[in-house]
Amino acid sequence: MNDIDDTTPPPGTLETERLLLRPPLPEDVPAIFEACQDPEIQRWTVVPSPYRREDAEFYVHKLAVDGWAGARNPVWCVFEKATGTLVGTQGLSHRGPGRAEIGYWATAASRGRGFTLEAVRAVCRWGFAERGLRRIEWTAYVGNEPSRALALKAGFTMEGVLRSYGEQRGEFHDVWMASLLAGEQERA
Ligand SMILES: CC(C)(COP(=O)(O)OP(=O)(O)OC[C@H]1O[C@@H](n2cnc3c(N)ncnc32)[C@H](O)[C@@H]1OP(=O)(O)O)[C@@H](O)C(=O)NCCC(=O)NCCS
Repeated sequence: MNDIDDTTPPPGTLETERLLLRPPLPEDVPAIFEACQDPEIQRWTVVPSPYRREDAEFYVHKLAVDGWAGARNPVWCVFEKATGTLVGTQGLSHRGPGRAEIGYWATAASRGRGFTLEAVRAVCRWGFAERGLRRIEWTAYVGNEPSRALALKAGFTMEGVLRSYGEQRGEFHDVWMASLLAGEQERA
């Protein structure tokens, strides 16, 4: 008997009150392509700029597939359950033993509704519980105040500035580093 029925969510799926997070699928390419035209996503993340349809295809067919296959760099598309709309992506990249870095963006249209915070909390909870992480890191280029405020609200502790640390398309930026340790999330 097959014990996986139609109601079993695919592996890697996470659900919160308002959101569904699942590994990217080919059908997500158009929405990812559209979302990544946003200048703020291009300014503050490592996505290619200009962002082409092939870049969304590469993310879905290569980065996401490899990330899940090696189990080291899982990524998710984040959907509002009520509408089925893509509202963002999340990623958790392996950085060392028991240590990973969270990364995210939100579609311009969905910002300010607490979706990213809800998704970050779910991904961190999963990382600690399912991956046994000890430390989840957050970095952002210095000046990314929205992301910094979000990380603080999620319970991260700011640790300082790492100079000329974060590479973005061949250029290095100063970054803020913060971390959330196992057990701290419950107290946030
Ligand atoms: C940063 C980003 C992901 C925030 O997404 P969002 O869905 O709007 O965030 P949320 O609605 O979940 O915000 C949660 C909290 O973060 C903080 N925050 C988010 N956006 C903020 C802003 N523009 N100014 C100040 N604080 C902000 C607030 O504390 C907010 O809680 P509140 O609304 O109760 O005050 C979004 O602006 C984005 O995609 N930016 C471009 C890409 C990027 O910077 N990615 C992160 C790279 S490190």
